[in-house]
Amino acid sequence: MLSRVMLLEAALAVGGAVAASKSCPANLELSCHNTTAVDTCCTVYPGGQLLMTQFWDTDPSTGPADSWTIHGLWPDYCDGSYPQFCDKSREITNATQIMQAADKCTLAYMEKYWLDYQGDNEQFWEHEFNKHGTCISTLDRKCYSEYQTSQEVVDYFKTTVQLFKTLPSYKWLAAAGIVPSADKTYTLAEIQAAIKANYGFEAIVNCNKNTKAMNEIWYHFNTKGSVQTGKFVPVQPVGSSTCPKTGIKYLPKYGGGSPSATTTTGGATTTTTTATGTATTSGPAPTGGSALSGKAYLYVNTPSDSNGGFLISGGAWYRAGGTPATYTATPNADGTTFQLNSSKGKCGVQADSSFSCASGVTASNFGYDGSFLTYNGANTFYAASLPTGTQQGVVYTSQKAVSLQVTWSPRS
Ligand SMILES: *[C@@H]1O[C@H](CO)[C@@H](O)[C@H](O)[C@H]1NC(C)=O
Ligand SMILES: *[C@@H]1O[C@H](CO)[C@@H](O)[C@H](O)[C@H]1NC(C)=O
Ligand SMILES: *[C@@H]1O[C@H](CO)[C@@H](O)[C@H](O)[C@H]1NC(C)=O
Repeated sequence: MLSRVMLLEAALAVGGAVAASKSCPANLELSCHNTTAVDTCCTVYPGGQLLMTQFWDTDPSTGPADSWTIHGLWPDYCDGSYPQFCDKSREITNATQIMQAADKCTLAYMEKYWLDYQGDNEQFWEHEFNKHGTCISTLDRKCYSEYQTSQEVVDYFKTTVQLFKTLPSYKWLAAAGIVPSADKTYTLAEIQAAIKANYGFEAIVNCNKNTKAMNEIWYHFNTKGSVQTGKFVPVQPVGSSTCPKTGIKYLPKYGGGSPSATTTTGGATTTTTTATGTATTSGPAPTGGSALSGKAYLYVNTPSDSNGGFLISGGAWYRAGGTPATYTATPNADGTTFQLNSSKGKCGVQADSSFSCASGVTASNFGYDGSFLTYNGANTFYAASLPTGTQQGVVYTSQKAVSLQVTWSPRS
């Protein structure tokens, strides 16, 4: 499954996190699968079943209306039971200060995507590290050859954020037509199929017992190596989802309606709801029908293949893995359209309808319908064929053999 290859590449990038952890042999066994004794600084043991857990909070709502948020990174035992609060002496009371001093970029991302529903992020981050982070064997201080104060804390938050970025649940569900709605319901099988198409395995999907509203997804991994520098390998989850088989709600954040029911007034985004009247959205993320701003990766969905790939800096479509280009959206004065650029320059649609970013390109105006990028109101783009191997496909706005859609995945 190619999407897993992308995950592994992303996981490899996690390896850049630490320089000073002690060196480990290259041929490590996968956690939860060791056949000989392991060095617990090189392999997560016990607790080798790593869960990257995500929230969908709607009451109250947290974070961008079109993104799940981070719950934590948990080292479960291989049978699904788990340790907690493993080392009192390493518990922290200053998560924000630590990140402020060591890694402002990750902190900024946490402030956007790792949110306490009661607004007390500091307490929430402390809790996640103290309860779960102190149980990850490779984060033990003795595992660092030149330990610097709080280094393992920085590694815990940084690894969690980097792993979260490889698991865009909102986008994966939206690509299968599973979008927040005040009245629609979904089946567990539909949700699992959407996750599996991208992740390669099912995940644990949890619901509020009373309302049947989906509120958590837990992705399971084994690791090859430490959480700081190793690879996260997706695996079948241990345990079962708490959602019912049918009638699952996926409620919109901020009392919103479905993303298509969005209007824009005077530059401010107003979401017309089907259920609870009108609410003004908050937070940095686009909620639909309005101008996008800021930086993002542009991922591609295509019915032709589950590995959609992404757009690279010149505007071409690439499916061979690696890192997507960062695009910047700048809103126009109309409040609904925006222009895009990449490191190559402005992006525009050329006379032959091809999408290109380069110096000298005249910028075109683009839109966003709540799920996908649009051009002249249409959210379908095209290519002459599905790019294979390291081919770079030209993306067109006029009809060609392969259709595709482009999603906006915000970056800090
Ligand atoms: C896996 O590693 C642990 C820790 O070193 C060890 O106790 C256990 O026996 C190993 N498992 C096998 C099957 O050797
Ligand atoms: C965080 O608290 C620990 C323990 O009190 C202390 O050693 C460390 O210097 C603090 N870090 C920052 C950045 O304030
Ligand atoms: C892209 O647009 C942003 C915002 O307008 C600007 O700051 C940046 O310099 C632009 N980058 C390039 C390569 O043109």
